[in-house]
Order: sequence, then structure tokens, then C-alpha cells
Amino acid sequence: MPYSPEHDEIENPLREGLRVNAAPEPCSVVVFGASGDLAHRKLIPAFYSMALVGRLPGSFGLVGVSLTSYTEEQFKKEMREAVGKHARIKPVREEIWQDFAGGMRYVAGKFDDPNTFLELKKKLEELDHSRATRGNRLFYFATPPSTFPMLLRGLKNAGLIYPPDHPSFSRVVIEKPFGHDLASARALNREVLDVLNEKQVFRIDHYLGKETVQNLMVLRFANSIWEPLWNNKYVDHVEITAGEELGIEARGKYYEEAGILRDMIQNHVLQLVTLTAMEPPVAFDADSVRDEKKKVLRAIRPILGFDEVAANVVTGQYSAGSVGGADVPGYRQEQNVAADSRTPTFVALKLQINNWRWDGVPFYVRSGKRMPKRATEIAVHFKSLPHSLFGDGATQPNVLVVRVQPEEGIALRFSAKVPGERYRPRTVSMDFRYGQAFGAASPEAYERLLLDAMRGDQTLFTRKDEVESAWRLVDPILRVLESKEYPGPFEYEAGSWGPNQSSELLARDGRAWRRL
Ligand code: BG6
Repeated sequence: MPYSPEHDEIENPLREGLRVNAAPEPCSVVVFGASGDLAHRKLIPAFYSMALVGRLPGSFGLVGVSLTSYTEEQFKKEMREAVGKHARIKPVREEIWQDFAGGMRYVAGKFDDPNTFLELKKKLEELDHSRATRGNRLFYFATPPSTFPMLLRGLKNAGLIYPPDHPSFSRVVIEKPFGHDLASARALNREVLDVLNEKQVFRIDHYLGKETVQNLMVLRFANSIWEPLWNNKYVDHVEITAGEELGIEARGKYYEEAGILRDMIQNHVLQLVTLTAMEPPVAFDADSVRDEKKKVLRAIRPILGFDEVAANVVTGQYSAGSVGGADVPGYRQEQNVAADSRTPTFVALKLQINNWRWDGVPFYVRSGKRMPKRATEIAVHFKSLPHSLFGDGATQPNVLVVRVQPEEGIALRFSAKVPGERYRPRTVSMDFRYGQAFGAASPEAYERLLLDAMRGDQTLFTRKDEVESAWRLVDPILRVLESKEYPGPFEYEAGSWGPNQSSELLARDGRAWRRL
């Protein structure tokens, strides 16, 4: 069936999001790092897809900035290819592309050179005239974190940042990683807030752009049946898995510095924990939601010192194995990885949330590269029956599973009677599948987040104190893992669910990871 925006609107009500959405004002977007991977694979295709479904403002411009010395025509040509490869809806519609590309500009230059910003300013002013973008600017830092301070200074010195009460807006989207540890995150926050007001800062965590992650809030706060059960009286434990088949690809240099805790836990996985555990916010606005998420982070008991890490944290590093039928090398054989690297590519953690709702309910979380399959899910395990009428072990506790990706959906596991003259219970599942229920494919996470940033809605972006609270939890664990005394990660074969010690973490409590 040919693609039609109208069809998408009608068939997929969820794409409207959770609130009544205002259309973004006219604006120009500036992508720093325009020749990089993120711009090619995610950002430019997302803007094109938004143009296609009529989500971009009528007056829109896009300026790419990077070191690469493209001419404007070369830049457009390369972006056209990127869109052809990576856009959500293919093939590319030529008339939409032509209009979109008409508002594209390019600036080649170094980020520490004031001329780069003066040139950028000229292009933006020209777009204000030719494309009626009214002085509104969204700057996107799709660059390594070391460049963030110089980009901020460059923008400020060129007069490209308005005060927050200015009639036109200037906003900055900052990619992860936001800091390397608590101290550097704090330092970065200081630099950012020296130039911008918090209302102008959009720290991105692309997990928050995923429909299924947003749906956690709808599941919890638009239904009455879960809330009475969503606490330590009825929930036994919560299990969160974020597993990937992929290895580290060509990112050895970055990954050696980051490891799984910085790459996945400090941001994406802790976001899943907060959305699962948070109290209902007083309103559905950015600060009310973020206040509640931050309270969860503050209530998580920090894991401090060697003994607590040994008892609550298991790390692993993949060795050669086979994933999806293909042989893959071990982590230490990957490009730009040290032959004696101690960087973990897997971690399992037992977290405790010290508040009235969750006291005594462990949250087991795990994330890893080179798992047997890609699977991100949240499983809420309810308590066992106080007494079974059907014989010992005849029933399994109820489990609610939110499948974040793939096969996005929600499943509830419960007992039903096997047909026949006996009362024999068997576990069955009620399954809601996004794709089936809503027909059309969901927009990409980046589309949703870019749109929100253009609209100035910060609900799905992390606030200064939230980022720092997440680091406050991860920092002491990293200090132990990176100390000489720590023996290093356990080895696990690529294509397995991590080292055996990860199963032991739960077995010690009489529990087991779900079989995925
Ligand atoms: C990124 C990490 O933030 O998230 C990657 O840097 C990881 O290492 C990716 O692969 C996972 O995202 P997704 O959307 O594929 O689950």
C-alpha cells in the first residue's frame, strides 16, 4: 500500500503522543557533527521523515556543521543517500526531498574557530529571510563530549544564544554520554548552565523517545487496575533486561572508555527503572514527571564499596562465540580494544529502592552486548499465592511483561484451567501487540524527541539533577570496578545471556532470570 500521511494519522492514534501537541514554530536546526554517523543514520533521516508526514514546521531550515570540507551540493547529495538508506519510510519521495533540501545549508569549520560561528550566523540569518524561520534555532550537538564546551562558547560569543525570555528561541540538544562520571557531569552542567538556562537544555536519552517506553506511563497512569497492585504488598520482584545481539561494532575506542555501565545503565536502563517505579506525577508536564523520576533515583540504595559490589553486581566480557548462526570474535579481539581489556560488556545488578512503595522488592537489571538476541523488557513478577488449592507448585506467580523491543507489546501471565475433568491449572498469556493493535509503524525515537525539542517540551529529556542523581549511583560502582582489587569481568561466550554468576545473583534469592 502506498504511504499516505493521512493513513498514518488515522491508523495510529498513539503517534499523537500523550498530550495535545502543538505544532512546532518555524525554526532552523543546526546539526554539529553533520558528517558523522548519528547525523547520517538517525538525525537527517528523522527530519526527512517528519517532513514526509507533515510534522516539520512549514518554515524550516537545516544547517550542517562539521570539519569535512563539503560544498553545499556535496552535503545535500550525501544526505540524500543517507536518507535513502536509513529513512523509516522508503522509497524517498522526490518532491518532499527537494523541498526539504531547499532549506539545507552547510558550514565547514573547526569548532574552536570563531569564524565557523560567524559563518553559521550568516547562514541562519539568510534562512530567516529565505525560509522565514523567524530567528528560532535548535542546536544539536552530535559530536564527541570533549567538543561541548567549545561549541557552547562559540555559540555564545557569536551572539547565537538568546536570553530565555527572548521572543525567538535558542535551544541546545546534547547527545550522550553526558559526562564520564559524577564530577565530569557536574562540570559539564556548570558549563552548560553558564551559557544557557535549564529551559533551553535538552539532554537526550533516546530510550525516552521509544513509544513503548512512553507507554509505560500510559499503562500505569491511564489504567486503574495496576496501581493497587504496584507495590511491595503484591510485587515480588522486578526484572529489567536490555540485551543486544550486536557487539561493539567499530566503536572500540569509545567503548573501552565507557563500558556497559556508562553506555547503557547510567542512562537508558535507569530511565526504565524510574518509569517503572515512579509515583504518579501531579501533572503531565516536564517538571512534574522529572521530579518523580528523580525521587526514584534518590531512593535507590547506593551500592558502596567492594563487598557491596561483590554482593550486588556481576560484570562480564564476551569471548568469541556465535550469534544468530554467525561466528563472532571476542571483545578483546575487536578493533581498538586492548588485548588485556577489563572493560565490561555485560552487567547484572540488584537494586533496592528504599521507599514505602518498593521497600523489600529487588529490581534485578541486566544489560549486555552479544546476547543471544535483541530483547529489552520489563517484567513485574507478582507474589505467589498465599495458599494453593490445586497442589504445591501447580501454579506460577503472575507476571506482567512490557516488551520494549522488539515485538513491542505487553503480556500478562496467569493460570487457566486445562480442559478436562480435573482442576489442572496451566500458565497462559494474554498478549497485546503494538503492531497489530495500531496498524502503522511507530515513529523513530529520534523523530519524537526532535519534534519535542522544536516544540520546547522537555518531558522526555533529562534534567540536570536527574543526570547527576543517576551518576551518583553509578559512580561508586565504577570506582570499585576500575580499582586494582577488582578481579575484572567474568568471561561469557558471545551468544549467551552473560556469565553464570549473573544467574547466581538471583539464585541466591531463590529467583531466576526469565528465559527470553
Ligand atoms: C546507545 C548505546 O545509546 O544505545 C549503544 O551507545 C547501544 O551501545 C544503543 O547499542 C542501543 O539502543 P537501541 O535503541 O538499539 O536499543
